[in-house]
Amino acid sequence: MTTLQARRPLRATAVTIAALYAWPVLATDSDDAAELARASGCLSCHSQKEKIVGPAFASVAEKYAGQKDALAELTMSVQNGSVRKWGRIPMPAHASLPPADVKRLVEWVLKTPQ
Ligand code: HEC
Repeated sequence: MTTLQARRPLRATAVTIAALYAWPVLATDSDDAAELARASGCLSCHSQKEKIVGPAFASVAEKYAGQKDALAELTMSVQNGSVRKWGRIPMPAHASLPPADVKRLVEWVLKTPQ
């Protein structure tokens, strides 16, 4: 048996193990963001697919897709509040949310699937 043949199954095992580890990490990341959104009160006015008081997060992701300054602009909206971009109902400011949480929430909103 050559060294190459001996190594091949090892490499396959390594890839499988990496995939098994990566998958739950990715799934947990977005579950955590959803939980953060719930805990931060976002989901009393927003849902991923339906307009409630505020726009559906899927609509926000669609509107800002490909816009370079989307993260900065939406971070400002969540922190300071926003009005008249989507309608006449304003979004209140979320000044007490830690900036790292706001960034995480906005990144998650921007990744909402259509
Ligand atoms: C009291 C209801 C309410 C809550 C709570 C709320 N939102 Fe909003 N949100 C709105 C409304 C209404 C709008 C549309 C504002 C407008 O027309 O400019 C909006 C708009 C947005 C937008 C788009 C802003 C833009 O500049 O286009 C994002 C992103 C967003 N909300 C995220 C969040 C996140 C994240 C949270 C939780 C921290 C949150 N919202 C909590 C009502 C709410």
